[in-house]
Amino acid sequence: MKNRQLGQKLYIKTYGCQMNVYDSGRMADILAPLGYALVDGPEDADMVILNTCHIREKAAEKVYSELGRLKRLKTAREKQGGRMILAVAGCVAQAESEEILDRAPFVDMVFGPQAYHRLPELLAALQRAGKAVLNTDFPPEPKFDHLPKDALDPGAAGTSAFLTVQEGCDKFCTFCVVPYTRGAEYSRPAEDVIAESGRLAAAGVREITLLGQNVNNYHGAEPPGTTRAGSSGTGSLETWGLGRLIRELGKIDGIERIRYTTSYPADMNDELIAAHGDVPELMPFLHLPMQSGSDTVLKAMNRRHTADDYRRLAGLLREARPDIGLSSDFIVGFPGETDADFDATLGLVEEIVFVQAYSFKYSQRPGTPAAAMDGQIPETVKSERLEALRDVLDAQQLAFNRSCVGRVLPVLLDRPGRKPGQLVGRSPYMQAVHVDDPIEGPGAIVRLAITAAHANSLKGGVEAQEAGAEPVEERATA
Ligand code: 5AD
Ligand code: SF4
Repeated sequence: MKNRQLGQKLYIKTYGCQMNVYDSGRMADILAPLGYALVDGPEDADMVILNTCHIREKAAEKVYSELGRLKRLKTAREKQGGRMILAVAGCVAQAESEEILDRAPFVDMVFGPQAYHRLPELLAALQRAGKAVLNTDFPPEPKFDHLPKDALDPGAAGTSAFLTVQEGCDKFCTFCVVPYTRGAEYSRPAEDVIAESGRLAAAGVREITLLGQNVNNYHGAEPPGTTRAGSSGTGSLETWGLGRLIRELGKIDGIERIRYTTSYPADMNDELIAAHGDVPELMPFLHLPMQSGSDTVLKAMNRRHTADDYRRLAGLLREARPDIGLSSDFIVGFPGETDADFDATLGLVEEIVFVQAYSFKYSQRPGTPAAAMDGQIPETVKSERLEALRDVLDAQQLAFNRSCVGRVLPVLLDRPGRKPGQLVGRSPYMQAVHVDDPIEGPGAIVRLAITAAHANSLKGGVEAQEAGAEPVEERATA
């Protein structure tokens, strides 16, 4: 194969969301046939890719500091007569393409999230041009059709895997860069997702997390030949929503747990809510960003939901699955946010009760409508509000963790812990559970008696472990 050079070392550093983790895996897949094998650090890598995040200013700035460090490695390599290709991918690349080359002219390649399938072409162009290559187009062809389908190395996938089913966003929340960096919403055909899930299951994966910026607005083409009530199943293809897709994925042998993230409240439809009640593989945990509890702020954010909509949704989800654990994202200090608006957020959090959540100070992102709004909030006020909100959210998380002590939870063991012999797994509610003396290895779902609760994790006792036992979901009462 053209371009193929055996024994090349590839280091990918991933910032930001789970979709970037997935994307980094796909970049490794597409570079593997060119002779690139992943290594754990940049020191002797032949190619380094920074897969970047642009969501908040801090995330973007980290990239430039890392580039400074990498420049020293690259220069040292060149002095020894070698070469290190330095690439910036992801959302910073998409948003700041030329600025990156201005600030860091030693970078060789800059390409956005929609160009990953073109990596071999871009590398070839770099060899030809001998100068930096930049690609931030939104190409007409869906990249998923051009990414390798059979690259999965059995055993390399681990026990839990991400799977992108939807990408991009048409919502245009006024604070957010995603619609500009990831482009328009696109859903992968259901057939492709089912096939990829099957390959993951065959490689030993037991839990899949379906990814998308608006994953609950998934509407992928149904598999060809699908029969529908009142139809012959021929003619033009209809689309499946996420609830339907999850129902199908639950039937795949080996896939025992399904999760999805991130969801948009207005897109939580009845079919998906119902799936929470009757698809046993769908875990009782949902990340559903609220952002604010004030209708005035929600409107200024261009969120298409009110505080009441969120309340109603939480109620419907709990009706369908009484033990569902809700998680959320919050932004404090959005332009114009008053003390009363912020109190409305605190009030709604107290009312809904979350098992975990992320909260952020509003960060002005160039080019987004909110960045130019009047009423920007001073940093000190943002910090105070963030602390007050975190106090409430942390207390809710700890209370939930403590409520698990004395229960038996099915835990998917997936990685070694810090102590020798210790394993760490996930409860159905996404809590990390440590077990000191496991009798089964990673990949097993074991029933553990929860003996202790911490701020961010649980401890599971070996006494309830039953090797090979059918995991039984124990549900808490509402
Ligand atoms: N400032 C602060 N937080 C933001 N988020 C997105 N954009 C911004 C911003 N400009 C947060 C939102 C979103 C999460 C992924 O990041 O809460 O849900
Ligand atoms: Fe950003 Fe809003 Fe789209 Fe989420 S829904 S990715 S916050 S624009």
